[in-house]
Amino acid sequence: MNLIVAVDENWAIGRGGDQLVYISADLKRFKALTTGHPVILGRKTLATFPGGRPLKNRRNLILSATPGYTVEGAEIYPDLNSLLASAPEDAFVIGGESVYRALLDKCDTAYVTKILSSFPADRYFPDLDAHPDWAVAEQSEVLEEDGISFQYVTYRKN
Ligand SMILES: NC(=O)c1ccc[n+]([C@@H]2O[C@H](COP(=O)([O-])OP(=O)(O)OC[C@H]3O[C@@H](n4cnc5c(N)ncnc54)[C@H](OP(=O)(O)O)[C@@H]3O)[C@@H](O)[C@H]2O)c1
Repeated sequence: MNLIVAVDENWAIGRGGDQLVYISADLKRFKALTTGHPVILGRKTLATFPGGRPLKNRRNLILSATPGYTVEGAEIYPDLNSLLASAPEDAFVIGGESVYRALLDKCDTAYVTKILSSFPADRYFPDLDAHPDWAVAEQSEVLEEDGISFQYVTYRKN
């Protein structure tokens, strides 16, 4: 499986139930990479989407153990085993922290947007630069939007 995440310099990914910052070029890239592939996410990340609705043109596999929780247009899985039994190899793990941590070992490619600033945060992704199993495979030049510098870095599992 793949994962896709936007991190700041401290590998922070969220605060107060939302993203740290929205970069429109990065959102377009996220759409281009994930469209046509299943996406795997936690209930709290789904709640950050407009109207709390699933992403279009993708199977949305949501992890939630909340009894009776349903979402039109999404598949709900109450635990990792049932999710993994239904998740194809081309799926993208799209967050949040709890889901990234639970499924990192099942992924072999990580599409990381590195935001070259730091923000107050309460959710983090594991530092892949310090992780013995992961190495940088590709990286873009440094890009900029609205004064925010960022870079696309692809990691592969060794
Ligand atoms: N920067 C990025 O790229 C990025 C991407 C995505 C999200 N985020 C940020 O990450 C934050 C959300 O992360 P989070 O960790 O708080 O929430 P989350 O992972 O999105 O969702 C957590 C919920 O998912 C369900 N869940 C997770 N693991 C489960 C398991 N093994 N079995 C059953 N259900 C499971 C539970 O739902 P129930 O409580 O219903 O059981 C849990 O409360 C937000 O700030 C968001 O903006 C950032």
